[in-house]
Amino acid sequence: MPDLVVVANRLPVDLVTADDGSEHWQAAPGGLVTALAPALEGRRGAWVGWPGVPDVAPEPFSDDAVGPDVMLHPVPLGADEVAAHYEGAANATLWPLYHDVVVAPVYDRDWWEVHRRVNERFADAAAEVADEGATVWVQDYQLQLVPRMLRERRPDLRIGFFLHIPFPPVELFLQLPWRREVVEGLLGADLVGFHTPGGAANFRWLAQRLCDATIDDAPIGLREAPGEVRFEGRTTRVGAFPISIDSATFADRGADPATVDRAKEVRAELGDPEVLLLGVDRLDYTKGIDVRLRAFGELLDTGRLDPARTMLVQVATPSRERVEAYRRTRDEVDRTVGRINGDHGGLGRPAVHYLHRSLPPAELAALYLAADVALVTPVRDGMNLVAKEYVATRSDDDGALVLSEFTGAAEELTEAHLVNPHDLDGVAAAIEAAVAGRGTDEARRRMGALRAQVRENDVARWAAAFLTALDG
Ligand code: ADP
Ligand code: G6P
Repeated sequence: MPDLVVVANRLPVDLVTADDGSEHWQAAPGGLVTALAPALEGRRGAWVGWPGVPDVAPEPFSDDAVGPDVMLHPVPLGADEVAAHYEGAANATLWPLYHDVVVAPVYDRDWWEVHRRVNERFADAAAEVADEGATVWVQDYQLQLVPRMLRERRPDLRIGFFLHIPFPPVELFLQLPWRREVVEGLLGADLVGFHTPGGAANFRWLAQRLCDATIDDAPIGLREAPGEVRFEGRTTRVGAFPISIDSATFADRGADPATVDRAKEVRAELGDPEVLLLGVDRLDYTKGIDVRLRAFGELLDTGRLDPARTMLVQVATPSRERVEAYRRTRDEVDRTVGRINGDHGGLGRPAVHYLHRSLPPAELAALYLAADVALVTPVRDGMNLVAKEYVATRSDDDGALVLSEFTGAAEELTEAHLVNPHDLDGVAAAIEAAVAGRGTDEARRRMGALRAQVRENDVARWAAAFLTALDG
């Protein structure tokens, strides 16, 4: 029986149907899977999640993504449930609300009812899979109601919850019509984890305000000194555990001669630009892809960067494409890329190379290594693992990172060129400074410090800190 059960909206792999009708499992998108897959590898575990497409109910199976000892237990969702729970309550209500209402959240009662029912389905599945006294680790904003539901079904379990996205400022959270239900849902856990002490403190305050819970007022530490919430005769601890990546794997890939060769080849294929800028994201309105495109466009418009010598590669994984705000974002990015290329591209030499797809790990590593400057400019992001992947891959200590202050990563990667994504002049100036600093001792010192931070604080440390706190 598994000693650790992960419960997440998605399995680490999606069921994909190829053009010839054959089906296969493929790595699921996003940072949650990137972080949790290595944390589970080598453990006797189970992962409960949706297989990524509606109306399929495969039997439990295992996959290389997390190794042979982790059983994957699919939770089927019907097409209506995908629309109301996943595209609706999760990604048109909670996602924008928790990301500073960058787009207006939609509050729909019918969606929420389905959302509640789907959370119950996940709680049922976890209750069935978990051994007596097992540890169950529930993940992310889609499943905030599960901890309480699971405790009702299985009081013997040790239940942890981790929120992979930002926890919003209290005055925004208070908009949510189901705010008390969410806080009570989370209080079903023994430990609730956030990326930052600020997020944890916001949640603790809301537990008092909305549920009349008793709370302590001690400062919440990083990976230690969690706060305490007493509610309905139980104590829930709330702590800060900044997530990370499997740093050694990225460093090894960056040092691999095959990656080094491929990085050179990539630059040659791009026409040997003197300066290569890079963006890698899910295509999401929170990622500030428009911000960096506009800043880059202005630098070309004003002659501060030379389009004959500078190129931006933007790789964006398709994401949540049936949600209206994501469709709009895609159209905007298409338009802006078109405008910049129309104004500044040459024949066979675009100023922006835009790929609307995801790339395999080896190709991504080559791009990370090839790029002089990585542009990570979200208007809000819980952590942002791309920033960490980029610096971990730079085994040469070259490269520079332009990083939004509004990412969790900015609290750790303080040697990056930090920018306010709402300040276009500031973003443009930071890109210009990062480009100008290429190859200097100062740039190498900064990259060395960034790499040391990510090397030391890898995903194994994150998982161990959370699970140790959950055990304690
Ligand atoms: P989020 O979880 O919001 O998508 P993160 O930056 O934390 O954002 O994590 C994104 C993960 O998805 C990273 O592991 C990154 O390598 C991967 N990823 C993002 N875009 C692409 C892409 N176009 N191709 C391949 N992997 C991608
Ligand atoms: C972010 C979220 C994850 C989510 C991922 C991909 O990382 O925190 O919970 O799985 O994005 O998004 P998707 O909607 O495709 O699952």
